[in-house]
Amino acid sequence: MILSKKLSEAINAQVNAEMWSSNLYLSMSVYFQNVGLKGFAHWMKKQADEEMEHAHKLIDYSIDRGGEVSIGQIDAVPTTWEGPIAAFEHTYNHECHVSELIDNLMNIAEEDKDHASRDFLFWFVREQVEEESTAKEILDQLKTYGECHVAIMDHKLGKR
Ligand SMILES: [Fe+2]
Ligand SMILES: [Fe+2]
Repeated sequence: MILSKKLSEAINAQVNAEMWSSNLYLSMSVYFQNVGLKGFAHWMKKQADEEMEHAHKLIDYSIDRGGEVSIGQIDAVPTTWEGPIAAFEHTYNHECHVSELIDNLMNIAEEDKDHASRDFLFWFVREQVEEESTAKEILDQLKTYGECHVAIMDHKLGKR
């Protein structure tokens, strides 16, 4: 059984979203470098690498299942934020949005009764739980302890 056209196209859109996410976090990494927060920059660079891995995972799966892979244009990402709290607020909100996109892919796989795709997509469902929770935890810590906590957080995030 090959992928339905609808799911194949939705996977292409998700590849684009993962690549956009990767660029978003790379841009945040550059931003943090520029404001002297090397630990935050390191964390975001790792995050960017992970998002690119997600894109590749989707591409490989689509190829395995006879999907029609196409790599589209990636929209520009923001380049600056007001501070670490704003950047992590953006990260958390963005991850919640990505979770909705994954749920939508799962809905299509369910409509298609495509069990292999459902099985494949569960990995992303679980990954999004982790992504949301990690971003929320860092955001909450930044909010609770305020900007004076940023130096400690920078040290901690540098160990990722
Ligand atoms: Fe992702
Ligand atoms: Fe993510």
